[in-house]
Amino acid sequence: MKDFKIAPSILSADLARLGDDVAKVIESGADWVHFDVMDNHYVPNLTFGPMVCKALRDYGITAPIDVHLMVKPVDALIPQFAKAGADYITFHPEASEHLDRSLQLIKDNGCKAGLVLNPGTSLECLEYVMDRLDVILLMSVNPGFGGQKFIDTTLDKARKVRQLIDASGRDIRLEIDGGVNVANIKEIAEAGVDTFVAGSAIFNSGDYKGSIDQMRQQLSQ
Ligand code: DX5
Ligand code: ZN
Repeated sequence: MKDFKIAPSILSADLARLGDDVAKVIESGADWVHFDVMDNHYVPNLTFGPMVCKALRDYGITAPIDVHLMVKPVDALIPQFAKAGADYITFHPEASEHLDRSLQLIKDNGCKAGLVLNPGTSLECLEYVMDRLDVILLMSVNPGFGGQKFIDTTLDKARKVRQLIDASGRDIRLEIDGGVNVANIKEIAEAGVDTFVAGSAIFNSGDYKGSIDQMRQQLSQ
């Protein structure tokens, strides 16, 4: 079977008991922690920053932390998140004046780098930076909130990005974020996605292990 990763978005976790809740979701079989950083500027919502990422590490969370920056500007937060224990750092191309420089900054700080494409963002920005990328994250909702409906046109986009990745011959993960659930994860995987962010479908299910197991079962069919 392919090396699929499931990355619960802590946006939907119990924020008053974050450490416990993240530990629980990892024990329930999740692979990564998806860490949504919102600034009330690039997106109309406000979440958490590097201090909370460090707090999770200090609490004993050892799973890869996948930091999704929905902030503008991005560069100042890159070294801070690297120091706070991030493994992956991704950002939106619209939010950086200097795409290549921001990607290089992530690499220089020892993290894996990626770009996040909104539903309406074209694939053009990938063309000259493929060699810098470890992950391409496709938004299947407009960023800012959990619990939105999956936008179906993302499937076609995922197929196109899968072709670009395969043609590049590079080891780049194809990740999807927004509205992923047990009912649609198989179809999304068939479009070439290997890394799945799911917030509400896991944290609001009341049974983390049950929902993650069901997702994996869909992926193994
Ligand atoms: C939206 C965030 C997502 C979101 C996913 O801006 O980037 O990670 O929390 O939540 P669900 O899975 O509920 O759509
Ligand atoms: Zn996200």
